[in-house]
Amino acid sequence: MNAIYDKLTKCVESVRKRTDFVPKVAIVLGSGLGDYANDIKVECEIDYHDIEGFPVSTVPGHAGKFIFGYVDSVPVVCMKGRVHYYEGYPISDVVMPARLMKLLGAEILFLTNASGGLNPEFSAGTFMLITDHISCFAPNPLIGPNIDELGTRFPDMTHVYDTDLQDIIRNAAKNEGITLKEGVYAQLTGPSFESPAEIKMLRTLGVDAVGMSTVVEAIAANHMGMKICGISCVCNLAAGMTANPLTHDEVQAAANEAAPKFKKLLTESVKRF
Ligand code: HPA
Repeated sequence: MNAIYDKLTKCVESVRKRTDFVPKVAIVLGSGLGDYANDIKVECEIDYHDIEGFPVSTVPGHAGKFIFGYVDSVPVVCMKGRVHYYEGYPISDVVMPARLMKLLGAEILFLTNASGGLNPEFSAGTFMLITDHISCFAPNPLIGPNIDELGTRFPDMTHVYDTDLQDIIRNAAKNEGITLKEGVYAQLTGPSFESPAEIKMLRTLGVDAVGMSTVVEAIAANHMGMKICGISCVCNLAAGMTANPLTHDEVQAAANEAAPKFKKLLTESVKRF
């Protein structure tokens, strides 16, 4: 059997020893959203450490567990903490949680993240509905023998971000009076922030927000036929767009400040799914 698929099925078995909860929506909580569990009627929590072979994050603020429960009446599984490629994990490990949540039953993947804004209309605290992505700066998670049990060799990527889910999120934002911008997200590997010249390049390519996550998960989930949506919280203007150097502390402070509105938008969207 394929070693990656083997590891994945072992993780599924490990989770199933602890809960038989079947989520409909899988939610990946980005920076600042860690306490979203408080908005969930929690049924079960599983530390990543307790899942055999599961990748565990080393980034401060990303300590990890799965939270199973209900947002309103919608069964969800939330990832509190994700692993990033820049931590040194193989890309197959980075996307393993998304694959796992699909195998636990989730049909929808809701991705959230913190990003740097390139679109001049954005500022710290802007929410951006991800309408498309640029993936070619990070390794494609589907490289290697295709795992036929998960999906096809050459998946179509025309509508990675589901248009119906996008409409639902737009309506939720409108109802809550939350301003929601839209745009293209690019994942770079990090962990260094981009140089001003790289940001200029990305702007030329049509990128609106840049970060170090999300796209590889979206590719793996699309491969498996999940419906995907994503919102990025712009935490800073990208390198070279202001005179200030970028810091992780600044990103986290902006993410924390935006969190209450972000959580509201998340809940109001998921309720409507
Ligand atoms: N670049 C990449 N990732 C980020 C940024 C950024 O400016 N801000 C938050 N995450």
